[in-house]
Amino acid sequence: MSTTLASSPNSTVATQPQANYRRHVLDLDDFSRDEIGEILETTASMKEVLNRPIKQVPALRGKTVVNMFFEDSTRTRISFELAARALSANVVTMSARGSSVEKGESLLDTMRTLQALGADIIVMRHRESGAPYLVAQHFLGSVLNAGDGRHAHPTQALLDLFTIQERLGRIEGLKVVIVGDIVHSRVARSNLWGLTTMGAHVTLCAPTTLLGPAAFWTATWPKVTITTDLDECVRDADVIMTLRLQKERQESGLLPSLREYSRFFGVNAARVACAAPHCLVMHPGPMNEGVEITPDVATSAQSVIETQVTNGVAVRMALLYRLAEH
Ligand code: NCD
Repeated sequence: MSTTLASSPNSTVATQPQANYRRHVLDLDDFSRDEIGEILETTASMKEVLNRPIKQVPALRGKTVVNMFFEDSTRTRISFELAARALSANVVTMSARGSSVEKGESLLDTMRTLQALGADIIVMRHRESGAPYLVAQHFLGSVLNAGDGRHAHPTQALLDLFTIQERLGRIEGLKVVIVGDIVHSRVARSNLWGLTTMGAHVTLCAPTTLLGPAAFWTATWPKVTITTDLDECVRDADVIMTLRLQKERQESGLLPSLREYSRFFGVNAARVACAAPHCLVMHPGPMNEGVEITPDVATSAQSVIETQVTNGVAVRMALLYRLAEH
């Protein structure tokens, strides 16, 4: 499939025999290394499509993708819209604000309405962990989780994996430090599944109040290293992934001050200098510059933050394509 897409501008991947793909993408916890590898390969083909003068293939022509965004988002929402359009799908985006949700309509009623209107794929972001799982139990089409509460964000993890592989040529054996607000982060959790499945060594670094249950991390991912010492753990790191402080999900009193947080847990040039010379600096965005990352590091040659955003469209195309083919 991927060669067809890449080699012929007029090819329609929809004419390929039906592959045995999964119906929903809710998290990466049930993905094998092979399946992630296939998705990264399809993503490379999709990226090639996006580099053409006409960034569109007809793979999802006649399919309807509904983006249900019940939580604020810029890059993920626009990225999904562009991805669905690049595959020639009909795309509609709805938000809770301004919809019948404000009149008290339940999540399942909203889903049934979208189903009756012909939605084939629902892309869903919700502030409650588990909401896309509920919809997936009842919706007759496919559900793609675009971030649920503090639980999972599979497309972010896949675009991070793709970016690492693209830049460093592999994921297996790399030392990846994830630093910041781990306890509130769906990005950290999905990346833990993805990175460990692909054979990376992951270190979680956070103040204890933002680390969450260390025993849970080590029970679920036995090989993960946990530390509160960023200076120590960035040594020889191949990737430093910093996370946004999720102020909207925090109770008060978790941090003495932002200044102290950035002193001990901020990614700055001195810390990056202790990592491997090829070390990538990543951030899922949106950034609190000057808090979790300094502006000079965010725009440095080692930062791949914009590449992550660009690669997000290709990853989402790959997933929408696979769901449409399930
Ligand atoms: C992340 C999210 O919304 O979970 N951002 C994103 O999708 N690009 C991370 C965050 O909000 O901190």
